[in-house]
Amino acid sequence: MKKELRLQTLARLDEMSTETFEQSASLLFEHLFQLPDWKQAETIALTMSRGKEVPTRPLIESAWQVGKTVCVPTCFPKTKDMTFYEYTPETKMKSSYFGLTEPDPETSIAIDKAAIDLMIVPGVCFDQQGYRIGYGGGYYDRYLVDYPGVTLAVCLSVQQIKQVPAEKHDLPVSMVVSEKGVQVSSLYHK
Ligand SMILES: Nc1ncnc2c1ncn2[C@@H]1O[C@H](COP(=O)(O)OP(=O)(O)OP(=O)(O)O)[C@@H](O)[C@H]1O
Ligand SMILES: [Mg+2]
Repeated sequence: MKKELRLQTLARLDEMSTETFEQSASLLFEHLFQLPDWKQAETIALTMSRGKEVPTRPLIESAWQVGKTVCVPTCFPKTKDMTFYEYTPETKMKSSYFGLTEPDPETSIAIDKAAIDLMIVPGVCFDQQGYRIGYGGGYYDRYLVDYPGVTLAVCLSVQQIKQVPAEKHDLPVSMVVSEKGVQVSSLYHK
């Protein structure tokens, strides 16, 4: 069920023209940059986007410009664990065997979970409660179990579905931001 929804959503993104995709993404950024949770966050965690994912480069640039700390995860497949490292223009990156670009743990500065004010959680589809279908690794579901900060997803509205068939281990994000605006999860109480 999750697998089908993931594939259907990726197909919808794939069908979208580059022009529409880019226009929607820039509208989305306008909504995001106005959010108090974005403005107030001093340390922001996000992933390096690729393919038809909402690009995160503009978020990185914007965060740097106002002096925020950006951090990016490295996944450890053996333990299904991830660690976030500070990401600066100097950070040495490695490519993992998933084809992801990740900070080199040997030379990067690890950031404590509790020091991350805002976590931008990647995913393929999201529902009204903030439940998500990720890429299937369970990395975020594990990491977020004891994450104390605010979680947020950025996506295009074609990625928003009525209901994610959430399992016991799935954790919702607090907010989903798309080109249509900000949707706060009904499960979110600050
Ligand atoms: N807290 C957890 N403890 C142990 N196993 C977990 C936990 N969370 C998820 N898993 C396992 O990880 C696997 C993948 O989970 P799921 O299908 O929800 O991935 P996903 O949400 O798409 O991935 P991600 O969280 O990386 O975006 C499942 O087999 C699940 O049992
Ligand atoms: Mg999950």
